[in-house]
Formats: sequence, structure tokens, C-alpha cells
Amino acid sequence: MAKPLPVIIDCDPGQDDAMMLFLALNAPELDVRGVVAVAGNVSMEKIKRNLAMLIDIVDRGDVPIYVGCDRPMIRNLVTAEYVHGETGINGIEIFEPQTNLQSEHGVDFIIDQLRKARDNEIVIVATGPLTNIAMALIKAPDIVAKIQQIVMMGGASFEGGNVTPSAEFNIYVDPHACDVVLKCGRPIIMFGLDVTHKVMTTKNRVRAIRALANSVSDVAAGMLDFFGKHDSEKYSAEGAPLHDPCTVAWLLKPDLFELKTCHVAVETMSELTLGHTAVDFWHVTGNKPNVRWAYDVDDDAFFDLLTERLARY
Ligand code: RIB
Ligand code: CA
Repeated sequence: MAKPLPVIIDCDPGQDDAMMLFLALNAPELDVRGVVAVAGNVSMEKIKRNLAMLIDIVDRGDVPIYVGCDRPMIRNLVTAEYVHGETGINGIEIFEPQTNLQSEHGVDFIIDQLRKARDNEIVIVATGPLTNIAMALIKAPDIVAKIQQIVMMGGASFEGGNVTPSAEFNIYVDPHACDVVLKCGRPIIMFGLDVTHKVMTTKNRVRAIRALANSVSDVAAGMLDFFGKHDSEKYSAEGAPLHDPCTVAWLLKPDLFELKTCHVAVETMSELTLGHTAVDFWHVTGNKPNVRWAYDVDDDAFFDLLTERLARY
């Protein structure tokens, strides 16, 4: 097997962030160097507790976890308890985690890890607002050469927005951070709502996860039961889009997804369309492409992968 990919994860757990972590933290293909919390779905007070709980649940105390930025670069924090519940991971009992957070700030961890790396070595997986990634790039521009690729969940094009008519939540919370990342010059693989709305947590899929009956799959099923509620009403669909695991699933099985190289820019001024990602899917601007935009997925194979990997716990 090829050498495991060195990965830094930045997330805002969140039930779907949790599923992304469950997929990443027992994948032999990945060498997770650390996980950084970013404020997004709920406040940092809860995010950092949720992250520590999730590391306990998968028994990966060897992976260091960090507190990153507790608010966006310029805007005030906007959270999403209406989707994720008051705890941010409603669907499981909250407990006092054993795992401690590191004292180093998450942005400094990202900088330190990248500075120690070789050129093009480190993969960044980001499934929350991009505040920490952008702050690291601004504080230490020299790190950009060390980034192999940024694999992120965020944005929307043909699908429309989920927090405003034109913006997806992660980008809406910190559009300025997204602007910095989109202009960083490194390969960006972007999983927006156009593709994540095709991986729905239907009853059969959650049932298959529950049937695994191990301690992690029990937690996963409990969270997915809750997570499905808001979006299934909103979209009058069965279940909810399982956004964040698309990032790690692509690293593990890229053939699951269809991607197109496009130019993507983000709205940072207009109140009406703040956070909108202008995805030049048909190359009408003539702008140099900066993103590989995911637009299709084999959803059955995606859930087969997720279920098979959860079975390994
Ligand atoms: O819009 C969906 C994204 O916002 C997901 O990453 C979810 O966890 C929230 O962060
Ligand atoms: Ca998230």
C-alpha cells in the first residue's frame, strides 16, 4: 500500500463532521496529524467539547486536537443550532471527555505542521468555515508551498444556498476566509451542495449503519437520526444530505465522484448574496480555473464505503 497521506483536519462538529472524522480516523490510507476546531455549527465552547468527545468515542487519543478561531475573520459568528441541535451533535448523550485539547492555538499548529513538512506534502481537509486555514495563510504565507491540496466542503452553484438563497453555510459564515483560500494558488477540491445533496441519509442507509452494532456505529446512527430531521422537512426528502464525509470519501475512493475544473470566486460584499460561490462551470469568464468542483457522486457506493469503514470499529 502507498504511504499514508499526511492530513490536517479542520472542522466544526456537527453530526456530519463527526461522520467525516469516523471515516478518517480508522482509514489506513490517512496519517491524521491533528484536528483543529473552528466555530461554525455552534460556538467554540461546544465545538471543542464535541471534538474531544469524538476522539474519545473512536479511541484515538494519539491524534492531537486544537482550538482554532472562535469567530470569523471579519463578520460576527452565525451558528446553526436549528440544524444540529443545541449541543451541535444532538442524537448522542453529552459526556465529559477524557481527551484534552492542546494548549497551542489551532492556527499555530497548522503553521508549525506545514513549516516542518516537505513541499506539496500536506493535505488539508476542511469541513467548517475556512477561518483557521485563511488565518494560517495570512500569518505565514510561506506555508502555501507545503500544501499538497485543500479538500473542502462548502459552496453551492446550481443547487442554490442552504442558509440564504445563494450561499452555503460554511462559506456564508466566513466569506472572507473563503476568498483567501480560493486565491492561495494550491489545488482545491470543493464539495458543495450540488454534490452533497445527492448523498441523503435515507432510513435504509441509517438502518444499515445501526445494524453494525458497534460502539461507534451506535453513535453514528443516533446522530444521523437527529441530523435528518431539519433538512428532511426543509427539502421534503427522506433523510438529510451528509455533507462533510464527501471530503474524506474522495481521498479514499476518488472514483466515487465526478469533478470539473472551474474558476470559483466568492461574494464578500453584497448583503443579498454574501457567501455566494460563483462557480464558472461552463467557463464563460475566461478566468483561470482554481478549483476542482464536485458535481456528481455514486451515492450507493458512498454509503457502502461509509458503512464498511464504520464496521471496522
Ligand atoms: O452547509 C453544510 C455545512 O455547514 C456542513 O459542513 C455542516 O457541518 C455545516 O458546517
Ligand atoms: Ca461542518
